[in-house]
Amino acid sequence: MEIRFEPRQVLKKKPQGPLGFGKYYTDYMFMCDWDADQGGFHDARIIPFGPIELDPATMVLHYAQETFEGLKAYRTADNKIQLFRPEKNAKRFANSNERLSMPQVPEEFFVQAIRELVKVEKDWVPQNEGESLYIRPFMFASESAVGVHPAVSYKFMIILSPVGAYYPQGMAPVKIWVEDDYIRAAPGGTGFTKCGGNYAGSLKAQEKAEEKGYTQVLWLDGVHKKYVEEVGSMNVMFLIDNEVWTAPIDGTVLPGVTRDSILHLLSDWGYTIREEHLAIDDLMAAAQDGRLQEAWGTGTAAVISPIGELYYKGTATQINDFKTGELTQKLYDTLTGIQWGKLEDPYHWTQVVE
Ligand code: COI
Repeated sequence: MEIRFEPRQVLKKKPQGPLGFGKYYTDYMFMCDWDADQGGFHDARIIPFGPIELDPATMVLHYAQETFEGLKAYRTADNKIQLFRPEKNAKRFANSNERLSMPQVPEEFFVQAIRELVKVEKDWVPQNEGESLYIRPFMFASESAVGVHPAVSYKFMIILSPVGAYYPQGMAPVKIWVEDDYIRAAPGGTGFTKCGGNYAGSLKAQEKAEEKGYTQVLWLDGVHKKYVEEVGSMNVMFLIDNEVWTAPIDGTVLPGVTRDSILHLLSDWGYTIREEHLAIDDLMAAAQDGRLQEAWGTGTAAVISPIGELYYKGTATQINDFKTGELTQKLYDTLTGIQWGKLEDPYHWTQVVE
């Protein structure tokens, strides 16, 4: 599809110093409309970044028909800019939209829009170690109506934000609160999608965890509150007796692109992978008797995040003496090495934008 470009008069000043996560936005954004009565997607454009006007009856504000994605552009040592597996995000976005009765963005169009916007904004891709350009595609119901039905109009947008580490502590162990009251997802629900509603429903438990001094929540399954699922902004993996455990992708867990990449690496390195339901009682017992060797989260924003402590029902247990484990470090180094072009990419996961 042709994407029109509308230049702005004055470019913003680039941020100096630490970027944090999601604090700064670039000069331009991508926007495209979808209207049932205009044959679907039309008027794709890259326009100056700025506020958008919405009618108070816009359906997303009432019924939360909204989905999003997250991926990054990386600057390599030889000054190329590359994306990491954008086609995986395109597929997950399409699956999310299908579940929320929203039109699916064709994979080619999704990747084209990202590539063109990143090309325009190439000077915003940071140079410093550990920094990248976070890409946030999203789509929402833009029809004005208060009756409950799938909207007949949508906006597909992409914004960009230069970022550093997601957690203020960077690549250092985080403390995780195992939530045994609130739930995130249940079979038949939207747990496997990246929709805003999943995150809105998670905030109460997140607040509770933060009040107690924990960084994030580890969710248990919504039916029995017994099996380990995922952490607020990342999938989660455990090294127990030299085997790697992670929840299966069967409807309630987000199919993470980083999760998939890490499982590829681990299986190539000869690890046995147990994509199985792991009971929290078994996990805590393994932590207490020293069989839980390492734990880490995986996510685009979080990258690889070591987990140093788990709190469940009154008991806090440290993992690997609250130190980043050897395997966790090796996974981080290998994944980020491929993403920033410091290591060879035998899997063809990266694609150069420019
Ligand atoms: C990501 O890892 O890209 C996410 O979307 C997680 C979070 C920032 C919502």
